[in-house]
Amino acid sequence: MARTPGRSCPRHYRYSPAVFARAADLEAQSLYIVGGLYGNPFALEAVLAMARRESATLVFNGDFNWFNVDPAEFESVNETVLQHAALRGNVETEIAGEDEGAGCGCAYPEWVGDAEVERSNEILGRLRETASAYPEMRARFAVLPMHLVAEIGGLRVGIVHGDAESLAGWGFSQEALREGPGRARALLAGAGVDVFACTHTCLPVMQEFSTLRGAALIVNNGAAGMPNFRDTRFGLATRIASAPSTQALYGTRLGKWVVEAVPVRYDHEAWIARFDRFWPAGSPASLSYRRRIASGPDYEMEQAVRTGAPAGALSRVA
Ligand SMILES: [Fe+2]
Repeated sequence: MARTPGRSCPRHYRYSPAVFARAADLEAQSLYIVGGLYGNPFALEAVLAMARRESATLVFNGDFNWFNVDPAEFESVNETVLQHAALRGNVETEIAGEDEGAGCGCAYPEWVGDAEVERSNEILGRLRETASAYPEMRARFAVLPMHLVAEIGGLRVGIVHGDAESLAGWGFSQEALREGPGRARALLAGAGVDVFACTHTCLPVMQEFSTLRGAALIVNNGAAGMPNFRDTRFGLATRIASAPSTQALYGTRLGKWVVEAVPVRYDHEAWIARFDRFWPAGSPASLSYRRRIASGPDYEMEQAVRTGAPAGALSRVA
């Protein structure tokens, strides 16, 4: 079968859910998991400050590059991110390699239109041009892992970019989880983790499951570097800790731990000005993303919360 750039899931993106049944790669007291920074330097500043305040461990689970086609910005975002634990997303994987056949590597499902897929391939092309001047950085991306197991006081967290089987999988998207939770439940049980923390699919979701191991959770932060809900101007990160955050938008308890969605409140005006400078009206990124960056996607917080706890409940307890 011919590969359509941006639609396919390259074979080297795949892994078995059984890979998560291993000793933890990382132990932490508290964790911030930051997916989909998309090259927003102001969101990066914000998450660094959030983690610093709590002495929390930061994990960047991929796609920390996207809009940062300016060489200086490309360099500074990556130099900062790579001082922390990081996974490669499809963006880092594609700019590390030479093969253009996968396009942006997003493995977009059919509900994403052809024009949008084509524009993503064009954005990736621009970013690839910038990255070509940084062979050492590309070599660092190439050796980043595709998944990581973190442990927080006995809570096992599988951290991925896509889903339990692929770097660019859409199995943990809000759309797929709404259609049928059976597959996700089986993956959680088979992987031997209590939480899967993911990103990649653009929209956030937090969904609870009961498995043979007990209560389990899939938490997708959507994007740290772009708004995730209608009429909002902040990104989202996933926080896992022993005590709730007063900042959390929604969250749930899992044993002694809380898993929350926390806002990444970056300088919106500065970010949109920076975005417009490198992606003016008519450019592929402007056509695909400017509306979302200006005022959020067509998605409500209530749609993302699929747990027993209503939005804000945990932060009110704190
Ligand atoms: Fe991605």
